[in-house]
Amino acid sequence: MKILIVGSGGREHALGWKLAQSPLVSELMSAPGNPGLAALGRTFPVKVEQAAELAALAAREQVDLVVIGPEVAAAAGLADHLATLGIPCFGPSKAAAELEASKAFMKEFCLRHGVPTAEYKVFDDAIRAKAYLGDREPPFVIKADGLAAGKGVVIAETRRAADEAIDEILFLRKFGTAGQRIVIEDFLPGEEASFFALCDGETAIPLVAAQDHKRAYDGDKGPNTGGMGAYSPAPILTDAARDQTMEQIILPTLRGMKAEGRPFVGILFAGLMISADGPKLIEFNVRFGDPECQTLMRRLKSDLAPVLLAAAKGDLANAPALEWDARSAVTVVYAAQGYPDEPLTGSVIRGVTQANAVPDVVVFHAGTREDEDGTLRAAGGRVLNVTATGDTLTQAVASAYAGVAQIDWPGGFCRSDIAWRALG
Ligand code: AMP
Ligand code: GLY
Repeated sequence: MKILIVGSGGREHALGWKLAQSPLVSELMSAPGNPGLAALGRTFPVKVEQAAELAALAAREQVDLVVIGPEVAAAAGLADHLATLGIPCFGPSKAAAELEASKAFMKEFCLRHGVPTAEYKVFDDAIRAKAYLGDREPPFVIKADGLAAGKGVVIAETRRAADEAIDEILFLRKFGTAGQRIVIEDFLPGEEASFFALCDGETAIPLVAAQDHKRAYDGDKGPNTGGMGAYSPAPILTDAARDQTMEQIILPTLRGMKAEGRPFVGILFAGLMISADGPKLIEFNVRFGDPECQTLMRRLKSDLAPVLLAAAKGDLANAPALEWDARSAVTVVYAAQGYPDEPLTGSVIRGVTQANAVPDVVVFHAGTREDEDGTLRAAGGRVLNVTATGDTLTQAVASAYAGVAQIDWPGGFCRSDIAWRALG
C-alpha cells in the first residue's frame, strides 16, 4: 500500500511512525509533512486546505489510501475530491466535517438526535446575546461558531468578561468569519475526557481512553491551547462511562449522520464532560486529538494500515478487533516560548537524538524545520512531543521527563505536571 498522510503536526508524525511499521505499507508520503515525517518518506509542499491539489497529488502518486490529519483538510472537501477520483480516504466528507466546523450545526444535530450536551442558543446579534446572559448565572460559555484552531471558546467568570468576549467575536472579528455567529451554552461541571471512535459510516469501534491538558501552564492554569500533554489510559473514563458514551453519543450520531445523508467516516472525537449523571458532549472533532493521538499510537499493537483502509471502504464490521498494549503512555508537548498567543519561532533545538535514546521514549516532531546543515529549529507553536510508555503511568511520566531533560532548547517550555490528575 502507498499511503499519503495529510498534515504536519505531532499527530501526523505519530500516525506515520505507526503506519511505517506495517508490513503492508510500501511507501509513506506526507503533505506538507515535517522533518519527522520526512525521515519516513517523501514530503510534498501542498497546504492542508488545498483540497483539489492534494487529491491531484494522490492520483499522480497512485496512492492507495489518504489519511486526513487536521479538520481543515476535511472541511476543505478533500474526501469529496478523492471520492470522485475513486481513491480511498480515511477522513470525513465536507458535509460530515460540519460536526466540528460548525458548532451551531453540531448543537442542532444533538437536539435532533437526543445526544446529551449543554443547553445553548445561537446568536449573530451582540445585543440579543448580551440580553440572553441577563437571565443566567456565570460562568458563561461563549464560542465562535466556526473553526478557530481550538481557541474560539471563552469561559467568562463575570458578565463584563462575557460581554467583552461577545464584542471581540461578533464586532472585532477576533476569529474572522468563524465568529459570524456565536453559541452561548450552559457551563458543564465535571472532569473532561477525550473519547475516540473509528467510524466507517455505519460501524463504530471505540479506542482506548486518553486525556489531554488544555491549559498552557502547570496546575491547569493559563490560556487554553490545543493541548500541552496527554496520557492513556485515563481512569476517569471507566468501562461504564465508555459504554454510556457509545450508546448515548457515538452510535446515535453515526445513525443520525447517515440518516441525514452525511455518513461519517474517520475518527469521531467526542470531548466529554464526565458529570455526576454520566458523560455529556462538550464538542465533536472529526479527527484524532493532538496530542492524544501520540499516546494512542504508542499503545496500539495492531497494524493500523488495514484498519484505516477498512474504515475508508465501509468495511469495519469485518475488521479484526484492535489490540492495545496494557502499559501506559504519556506525551509531553514542548512548545515555543510565547505559545499560544505569539510563539517565537526560529530558535535552535538540540538533543532530540539523545532524547530518543532514552529507553521507552519516542520524540515526535510537530512545528519543527531543518536547515540544510541539519540544524533543527522551532517553526510553530507546539514544536516537539516527547512520548514514553511504562508499566505504570508513573513510570511513563518519569521516562517522558527523562527524555525532556535531554532536550536543549532555551526557546521552548513544557508543563512539568502532565498526568497529575491521574497520578492523584
Ligand atoms: P471546545 O473547543 O468546545 O472543546 O472548548 C474548549 C474547552 O472549553 C473545553 O475543553 C472545556 O475545557 C471548555 N468548555 C467548553 N464548553 C464547556 C461547557 N459547556 N462547560 C464547561 N466547560 C466547557
Ligand atoms: N487535544 C485536543 C484537540 O486535538 O483538539
